[in-house]
Amino acid sequence: MARISSATDAPDQDGIHHYDESSEMPAEIQKYWHQRYDIFSKYDEGIWMTDDTWFGVTPEPVASVIASHIAEGSPADKTVLIDAFAGAGGNTIAFALSGRWQRIFAIEKDPKVLACAKHNAAVYGVSNKIWWIQGDCFDVLKKRLKAVAKEAVIFASPPWGGPGYRDDEVFDLSLMQPYSLSDLYVPFAAFTPTFVLFLPRSSDLNQIAKYTSKDHPLEVTHYCMHGASKRWSKEDEIQLAEPGARSEHRRVSLRTRQGW
Ligand SMILES: C[S@@+](CC[C@H](N)C(=O)[O-])C[C@H]1O[C@@H](n2cnc3c(N)ncnc32)[C@H](O)[C@@H]1O
Repeated sequence: MARISSATDAPDQDGIHHYDESSEMPAEIQKYWHQRYDIFSKYDEGIWMTDDTWFGVTPEPVASVIASHIAEGSPADKTVLIDAFAGAGGNTIAFALSGRWQRIFAIEKDPKVLACAKHNAAVYGVSNKIWWIQGDCFDVLKKRLKAVAKEAVIFASPPWGGPGYRDDEVFDLSLMQPYSLSDLYVPFAAFTPTFVLFLPRSSDLNQIAKYTSKDHPLEVTHYCMHGASKRWSKEDEIQLAEPGARSEHRRVSLRTRQGW
Protein backbone atom coordinates (compact mmCIF):
# COMPACT_ATOMS: atom_id res chain seq x y z
CA MET A 1 0.00 0.00 0.00
CA ALA A 2 1.19 3.52 -0.76
CA ARG A 3 2.85 5.29 2.09
CA ILE A 4 0.89 8.42 3.06
CA SER A 5 3.83 10.11 4.75
CA SER A 6 7.26 9.35 6.08
CA ALA A 7 9.38 10.34 9.04
CA THR A 8 10.74 13.20 6.99
CA ASP A 9 7.33 14.70 6.21
CA ALA A 10 5.97 14.49 9.77
CA PRO A 11 6.13 18.08 11.08
CA ASP A 12 8.62 17.40 13.86
CA GLN A 13 8.92 21.08 14.70
CA ASP A 14 5.31 21.03 15.95
CA GLY A 15 5.83 18.15 18.36
CA ILE A 16 4.24 15.71 15.92
CA HIS A 17 6.41 12.75 15.05
CA HIS A 18 6.66 9.58 13.10
CA TYR A 19 9.58 7.77 14.74
CA ASP A 20 11.46 5.27 12.58
CA GLU A 21 13.62 3.96 15.43
CA SER A 22 13.22 3.74 19.19
CA SER A 23 16.48 5.66 19.64
CA GLU A 24 14.74 8.76 18.20
CA MET A 25 12.13 8.68 21.00
CA PRO A 26 12.37 10.41 24.39
CA ALA A 27 13.45 7.86 27.04
CA GLU A 28 10.09 7.88 28.86
CA ILE A 29 8.17 6.60 25.84
CA GLN A 30 10.74 4.15 24.42
CA LYS A 31 8.98 1.32 26.27
CA TYR A 32 6.04 1.74 23.86
CA TRP A 33 8.17 1.21 20.74
CA HIS A 34 7.66 -2.56 20.65
CA GLN A 35 3.88 -2.01 20.92
CA ARG A 36 3.72 0.24 17.87
CA TYR A 37 2.02 -2.35 15.62
CA ASP A 38 -0.42 -3.25 18.42
CA ILE A 39 -1.31 0.43 18.63
CA PHE A 40 -1.56 1.01 14.86
CA SER A 41 -1.02 -1.99 12.56
CA LYS A 42 -0.26 0.54 9.77
CA TYR A 43 2.39 2.28 11.88
CA ASP A 44 4.99 1.96 9.12
CA GLU A 45 2.69 3.69 6.63
CA GLY A 46 3.43 6.99 8.35
CA ILE A 47 1.37 7.19 11.55
CA TRP A 48 1.79 10.49 13.43
CA MET A 49 1.81 10.80 17.21
CA THR A 50 2.67 13.47 19.76
CA ASP A 51 4.79 12.09 22.58
CA ASP A 52 1.85 12.22 25.02
CA THR A 53 -0.49 10.24 22.78
CA TRP A 54 1.63 7.08 23.18
CA PHE A 55 0.29 6.78 26.76
CA GLY A 56 -3.39 7.05 25.95
CA VAL A 57 -4.13 5.67 22.50
CA THR A 58 -6.43 2.63 22.44
CA PRO A 59 -4.59 -0.25 20.74
CA GLU A 60 -6.14 -1.18 17.41
CA PRO A 61 -7.42 -4.69 18.30
CA VAL A 62 -9.18 -3.35 21.40
CA ALA A 63 -10.55 -0.33 19.50
CA SER A 64 -11.87 -2.67 16.85
CA VAL A 65 -13.67 -4.95 19.36
CA ILE A 66 -15.11 -1.90 21.13
CA ALA A 67 -16.34 -0.54 17.77
CA SER A 68 -18.12 -3.76 16.86
CA HIS A 69 -19.55 -4.11 20.36
CA ILE A 70 -21.01 -0.57 20.23
CA ALA A 71 -22.22 -1.11 16.65
CA GLU A 72 -24.10 -4.29 17.67
CA GLY A 73 -25.36 -2.94 20.98
CA SER A 74 -26.74 0.43 19.86
CA PRO A 75 -30.42 0.81 18.94
CA ALA A 76 -31.03 1.07 15.16
CA ASP A 77 -32.24 4.67 15.43
CA LYS A 78 -28.82 5.73 16.72
CA THR A 79 -26.97 6.75 13.58
CA VAL A 80 -24.44 9.26 14.89
CA LEU A 81 -21.31 8.39 16.85
CA ILE A 82 -19.54 11.11 18.83
CA ASP A 83 -15.99 10.34 19.97
CA ALA A 84 -15.66 12.96 22.72
CA PHE A 85 -11.91 12.51 23.38
CA ALA A 86 -10.52 11.55 19.98
CA GLY A 87 -6.80 11.60 20.85
CA ALA A 88 -4.59 10.29 18.03
CA GLY A 89 -7.61 8.58 16.48
CA GLY A 90 -7.34 4.98 17.72
CA ASN A 91 -11.05 4.61 18.47
CA THR A 92 -12.33 7.08 15.87
CA ILE A 93 -10.67 5.13 13.05
CA ALA A 94 -12.19 1.86 14.30
CA PHE A 95 -15.67 3.44 14.44
CA ALA A 96 -15.27 4.66 10.86
CA LEU A 97 -14.00 1.27 9.67
CA SER A 98 -17.04 -0.44 11.23
CA GLY A 99 -19.26 1.19 8.59
CA ARG A 100 -22.13 1.32 11.10
CA TRP A 101 -22.50 5.11 11.45
CA GLN A 102 -24.07 7.67 9.11
CA ARG A 103 -22.02 10.39 10.79
CA ILE A 104 -19.03 10.35 13.11
CA PHE A 105 -17.90 13.45 15.02
CA ALA A 106 -14.43 13.37 16.56
CA ILE A 107 -13.72 16.03 19.19
CA GLU A 108 -10.22 16.77 20.49
CA LYS A 109 -9.12 19.86 22.34
CA ASP A 110 -5.40 19.75 21.46
CA PRO A 111 -4.90 20.96 17.86
CA LYS A 112 -1.66 18.97 17.37
CA VAL A 113 -3.27 15.78 18.58
CA LEU A 114 -6.25 16.45 16.31
CA ALA A 115 -3.83 16.89 13.38
CA CYS A 116 -2.39 13.44 14.19
CA ALA A 117 -5.87 11.89 14.33
CA LYS A 118 -6.88 13.37 10.97
CA HIS A 119 -3.66 12.24 9.37
CA ASN A 120 -3.88 8.75 10.89
CA ALA A 121 -7.46 8.42 9.65
CA ALA A 122 -6.17 9.27 6.17
CA VAL A 123 -3.58 6.48 6.51
CA TYR A 124 -6.52 4.12 7.15
CA GLY A 125 -8.54 5.62 4.29
CA VAL A 126 -11.39 6.93 6.48
CA SER A 127 -10.58 10.61 7.08
CA ASN A 128 -13.44 11.85 4.89
CA LYS A 129 -15.97 9.77 6.86
CA ILE A 130 -15.32 11.84 10.00
CA TRP A 131 -16.30 15.40 11.03
CA TRP A 132 -13.33 16.76 12.99
CA ILE A 133 -13.96 19.31 15.73
CA GLN A 134 -11.23 21.02 17.71
CA GLY A 135 -12.48 22.12 21.11
CA ASP A 136 -13.69 21.17 24.55
CA CYS A 137 -16.13 18.27 24.21
CA PHE A 138 -18.46 19.52 26.95
CA ASP A 139 -18.78 22.87 25.18
CA VAL A 140 -19.08 21.31 21.73
CA LEU A 141 -21.90 19.00 22.88
CA LYS A 142 -23.83 21.90 24.35
CA LYS A 143 -23.24 24.47 21.61
CA ARG A 144 -22.65 22.64 18.33
CA LEU A 145 -24.05 19.11 18.49
CA LYS A 146 -27.38 19.58 20.28
CA ALA A 147 -29.25 19.03 17.02
CA VAL A 148 -27.98 15.44 16.71
CA ALA A 149 -28.42 14.44 20.37
CA LYS A 150 -31.46 12.20 19.70
CA GLU A 151 -29.60 10.05 17.17
CA ALA A 152 -26.26 10.08 18.96
CA VAL A 153 -24.16 7.63 20.94
CA ILE A 154 -21.24 9.18 22.81
CA PHE A 155 -18.01 7.25 23.23
CA ALA A 156 -15.66 8.81 25.78
CA SER A 157 -12.08 7.74 26.39
CA PRO A 158 -10.96 10.46 28.81
CA PRO A 159 -7.49 10.95 30.28
CA TRP A 160 -7.04 8.65 33.34
CA GLY A 161 -4.75 10.89 35.39
CA GLY A 162 -4.89 11.06 39.13
CA PRO A 163 -3.37 9.43 42.14
CA GLY A 164 -3.31 5.68 42.14
CA TYR A 165 -4.68 4.79 38.70
CA ARG A 166 -1.77 2.45 38.01
CA ASP A 167 -1.03 1.34 41.59
CA ASP A 168 -4.36 1.06 43.39
CA GLU A 169 -6.10 -2.30 43.38
CA VAL A 170 -9.38 -0.38 43.15
CA PHE A 171 -9.22 3.01 41.47
CA ASP A 172 -11.34 5.72 43.06
CA LEU A 173 -13.12 7.31 40.08
CA SER A 174 -13.87 10.44 42.09
CA LEU A 175 -10.12 11.16 42.00
CA MET A 176 -9.68 10.62 38.26
CA GLN A 177 -8.20 13.78 36.69
CA PRO A 178 -8.95 16.10 35.11
CA TYR A 179 -12.49 14.66 34.98
CA SER A 180 -14.02 12.52 37.73
CA LEU A 181 -16.71 9.95 36.92
CA SER A 182 -19.40 12.45 37.85
CA ASP A 183 -17.78 15.23 35.75
CA LEU A 184 -18.21 12.89 32.78
CA TYR A 185 -21.45 11.14 33.65
CA VAL A 186 -23.61 14.17 34.38
CA PRO A 187 -23.06 16.16 31.13
CA PHE A 188 -23.08 13.07 28.91
CA ALA A 189 -26.30 11.76 30.49
CA ALA A 190 -27.88 15.20 29.99
CA PHE A 191 -27.03 14.95 26.27
CA THR A 192 -28.07 11.34 25.56
CA PRO A 193 -29.03 8.23 27.53
CA THR A 194 -26.72 6.19 25.26
CA PHE A 195 -23.08 6.67 26.07
CA VAL A 196 -20.02 4.56 26.72
CA LEU A 197 -17.14 5.42 29.05
CA PHE A 198 -13.74 3.77 28.57
CA LEU A 199 -12.29 3.61 32.09
CA PRO A 200 -9.32 1.95 33.84
CA ARG A 201 -9.82 -1.78 34.46
CA SER A 202 -9.34 -1.30 38.21
CA SER A 203 -12.20 1.25 38.37
CA ASP A 204 -14.39 1.03 41.46
CA LEU A 205 -17.50 -0.77 40.20
CA ASN A 206 -19.49 0.33 43.26
CA GLN A 207 -19.11 3.92 42.09
CA ILE A 208 -20.36 2.96 38.62
CA ALA A 209 -23.23 0.93 40.05
CA LYS A 210 -24.59 3.99 41.82
CA TYR A 211 -25.74 5.22 38.43
CA THR A 212 -27.91 2.15 37.75
CA SER A 213 -31.59 1.83 38.46
CA LYS A 214 -34.32 -0.69 37.65
CA ASP A 215 -35.03 1.10 34.38
CA HIS A 216 -31.45 1.99 33.64
CA PRO A 217 -29.16 -1.06 33.78
CA LEU A 218 -25.47 -0.70 33.01
CA GLU A 219 -23.10 -3.13 31.42
CA VAL A 220 -19.40 -3.20 32.26
CA THR A 221 -17.18 -4.94 29.74
CA HIS A 222 -13.60 -5.84 30.49
CA TYR A 223 -11.38 -5.70 27.39
CA CYS A 224 -8.19 -7.78 27.32
CA MET A 225 -5.19 -7.99 25.04
CA HIS A 226 -2.99 -11.08 24.68
CA GLY A 227 -4.98 -12.54 27.62
CA ALA A 228 -2.78 -10.39 29.83
CA SER A 229 -5.44 -8.72 31.86
CA LYS A 230 -7.22 -11.34 33.94
CA ARG A 231 -8.80 -9.42 36.70
CA TRP A 232 -12.22 -10.96 36.21
CA SER A 233 -13.25 -14.28 34.77
CA LYS A 234 -15.16 -14.65 31.54
CA GLU A 235 -18.92 -14.00 31.57
CA ASP A 236 -18.70 -13.28 35.27
CA GLU A 237 -21.53 -11.48 36.94
CA ILE A 238 -21.07 -9.64 40.17
CA GLN A 239 -23.45 -8.14 42.67
CA LEU A 240 -22.69 -4.75 44.02
CA ALA A 241 -24.09 -3.55 47.29
CA GLU A 242 -25.21 0.02 47.23
CA PRO A 243 -24.08 1.76 50.42
CA GLY A 244 -27.06 2.54 52.60
CA ALA A 245 -29.43 0.06 50.93
CA ARG A 246 -29.38 -2.93 53.24
CA SER A 247 -31.46 -5.44 51.36
CA GLU A 248 -31.25 -4.07 47.84
CA HIS A 249 -28.43 -5.01 45.55
CA ARG A 250 -27.78 -3.44 42.22
CA ARG A 251 -26.58 -5.52 39.36
CA VAL A 252 -23.99 -4.57 36.83
CA SER A 253 -23.40 -7.28 34.28
CA LEU A 254 -19.74 -7.77 33.63
CA ARG A 255 -18.28 -9.37 30.53
CA THR A 256 -14.74 -10.01 29.41
CA ARG A 257 -13.81 -9.59 25.78
CA GLN A 258 -10.51 -10.37 24.12
CA GLY A 259 -8.92 -7.69 21.95
CA TRP A 260 -7.73 -10.64 19.87
C1 LIG B 1 -6.91 8.99 26.49
S1 LIG B 1 -6.78 10.16 25.20
C2 LIG B 1 -7.87 9.51 23.99
C3 LIG B 1 -7.24 8.42 23.17
C4 LIG B 1 -8.06 7.98 21.98
N1 LIG B 1 -9.20 7.21 22.38
C5 LIG B 1 -7.20 7.19 21.00
O1 LIG B 1 -7.41 5.98 20.89
O2 LIG B 1 -6.30 7.78 20.38
C6 LIG B 1 -7.67 11.53 25.83
C7 LIG B 1 -7.65 12.75 24.90
O3 LIG B 1 -8.64 13.67 25.35
C8 LIG B 1 -8.19 14.97 25.07
N2 LIG B 1 -9.01 15.86 25.93
C9 LIG B 1 -8.87 16.11 27.25
N3 LIG B 1 -9.86 16.92 27.69
C10 LIG B 1 -10.66 17.16 26.60
C11 LIG B 1 -11.86 17.88 26.42
N4 LIG B 1 -12.45 18.54 27.44
N5 LIG B 1 -12.42 17.89 25.20
C12 LIG B 1 -11.86 17.24 24.16
N6 LIG B 1 -10.70 16.54 24.27
C13 LIG B 1 -10.12 16.48 25.48
C14 LIG B 1 -6.72 14.93 25.39
O4 LIG B 1 -6.04 15.98 24.71
C15 LIG B 1 -6.34 13.53 24.88
O5 LIG B 1 -5.87 13.60 23.56
